[in-house]
Amino acid sequence: MEEKAKKTFYVTTPIYYVNDVPHIGHAYTTIIADAMARYQRLKGKKVFFLTGTDEHGQKIEKSAVEKGLTPQELADQVVVRFKDLWQRLNISYDYFIRTTEKFHQEGVQKIFKKLMAQGDIYKGSYQGWYCVSEENFLSEDVPLEPEGYKLCPDCGRQAVLLEEESYFFRLSAYQQALLDFYQSHPHFVRPASRMNEVVSFVRQGLKDLSITRTSVTWGIPVPGDPRHTIYVWFDALHNYVTAIGYDWNPELFATFWPADIHLIGKDILRFHAIFWPAFLMAAGFELPATVYSHGWWLKDEAKMSKSKGNVLDPYFILDKAGTDALRYFLLREIPIGLDGSFSHEGFVHRINSDLANDLGNLVQRTLTMAVNYFEGQLPPPAEENDADRELARQFDETKTRVYEFYDDRSLNRALEEIWFFLSLTNKYLADHEPWKLASLPEKRERLARVIYQALCAIRGASYLLYPVMPGTSEKIWELLGEARQPSSLLTSGLDFYDYQRGENISRAKAIFPRIDLNEFISETEKKTGVKTCPAGEMKAKEKKMEYITYEEFKKMDLRVAKVIAAERVEGTKKLLKLQIDLGTEQRQIIAGVAETYSPEDLLNKEFIVIANLQPAVIRGIESQGMLLAAEIENLAIIPFFDREIPPGTKVK
Ligand code: MSP
Repeated sequence: MEEKAKKTFYVTTPIYYVNDVPHIGHAYTTIIADAMARYQRLKGKKVFFLTGTDEHGQKIEKSAVEKGLTPQELADQVVVRFKDLWQRLNISYDYFIRTTEKFHQEGVQKIFKKLMAQGDIYKGSYQGWYCVSEENFLSEDVPLEPEGYKLCPDCGRQAVLLEEESYFFRLSAYQQALLDFYQSHPHFVRPASRMNEVVSFVRQGLKDLSITRTSVTWGIPVPGDPRHTIYVWFDALHNYVTAIGYDWNPELFATFWPADIHLIGKDILRFHAIFWPAFLMAAGFELPATVYSHGWWLKDEAKMSKSKGNVLDPYFILDKAGTDALRYFLLREIPIGLDGSFSHEGFVHRINSDLANDLGNLVQRTLTMAVNYFEGQLPPPAEENDADRELARQFDETKTRVYEFYDDRSLNRALEEIWFFLSLTNKYLADHEPWKLASLPEKRERLARVIYQALCAIRGASYLLYPVMPGTSEKIWELLGEARQPSSLLTSGLDFYDYQRGENISRAKAIFPRIDLNEFISETEKKTGVKTCPAGEMKAKEKKMEYITYEEFKKMDLRVAKVIAAERVEGTKKLLKLQIDLGTEQRQIIAGVAETYSPEDLLNKEFIVIANLQPAVIRGIESQGMLLAAEIENLAIIPFFDREIPPGTKVK
């Protein structure tokens, strides 16, 4: 994705509800945002990194009552927990907004009034299924029972059909404008698969949105009609503009709006990719550049939830492994859009192998040699040979790729590249065996060169690592006697040899102690009272790989097919009927891809089909083949080709 030439960078996290204390999921979003903010600062950009808390609404009101507190008292208590965790995680936010702050409430009311005056908000009545016990309208997608009523998904009780007066936002009027915007800004939502999901949702039609409640008292009052409070999502989304000065600091606002990136979890994509741009269009604001939706962290394959008792306490992990180990693990383990599963084995393995071995040992070994052989003062090294030059060249290549990945927000790929370079450095040491050179007095200068190269490599890698592991980079600089500040990273070009030959090198301690898996598991179990899935069971769960022979594979007739006509299968959400050209013949297939692609998206596209699959009848229509697609959370993603290929070409 192209980087904007602008000199500022504005990144936000969602604002977290205060009915719950922070857990790993919240930490994840905030760590991603922090790494992005730190990287942009290194590039010399003026950064505003916003996080905060979402403090209004029925959920908070209810939770406060249960705890015998006022909602404000509850919010005040939980905010301390969030701020404390962000400090432990080394989060460099510029502002922590609370939606109960006066300037925010006034900003929201002002926008509400403006939209009301111009007719984008109107008064009407809201009819919906209401759960008396939960005091809540059910979301519209709760299905109707055959008996004609709905059941509350939270408590299972029968809901009643209720009508209440409400103000509505004229969302339906923005349907076309949104579709036009998505078309002209195809990277607005990332990853791309999520963009498709948003577009198909909007294409299905948007209804006006009820944005006030008379049943909720803990909220911002509607200006001029205080019986109503403003719906918590209308209130919360506007934090992104009120925090940076809307209505109180025009200069700050002009500097940072529109946001470069709103980081969110996939569960709140519609609010950010549909409602938020529509609100902004109505208010006459520019739209943010990107909404980046990340996946969920699961625990031992199951979604974390309070009721299952499998919510991971970040403090426990921080006490055990340290801030940077947690930051590294969360960002390295998965690409930003996918779900990740937190297992004790996976975590301990990553820490021990990547951090204790690859990085920690490299630093410790190299510094120990510099201290033991040269008392921490390297003499002038011998001339470089080809292998030395090759290591420096590899660093330059790594650096270029790491910057590209950081620019593209592919943090896990950036880390992979850094670790690949660390493995090359470890190999360089193994190949040149400085411990052997140390016993040969005539090789002193060569020894100094080998250690110097390794020190330069460590130093270079430590700068590249800084956005993700700032504490570790700082520790390494201190050990290396490195006087520079990270702010010089990109402005100075980060030259491999820019290290003022180690004059004050310290003996390293283990910067990442190894973690003992069994101890880690038993301590977790003691703390949570929940049994962890043991290693053996986890392994057994992993399906045994069953190999097929090449002969078996060859039985499949895989062909390139081109779509010549496409339509939806009536009465279904998922199915498309496609007429395909297979070179020598035309066929019809039924494909479960309608939630990701519209018929127009697929017209003239080419993909792979299994041509000799036994025909099947799906919803009464014959399907003569099957297309290949990846499935991410029930969405089918078709692999397309990067050039045109004659239909019927064999794929093998
Ligand atoms: N208050 C709203 C956001 C308003 S933004 C204008 C909200 N708050 S939340 O506290 O429930 O969730 C905040 C974020 O945490 C969401 O993006 C959600 O996806 C993320 N996570 C909560 N649990 C998670 C995991 N287990 N894994 C990853 N992130 C998840 O929604």
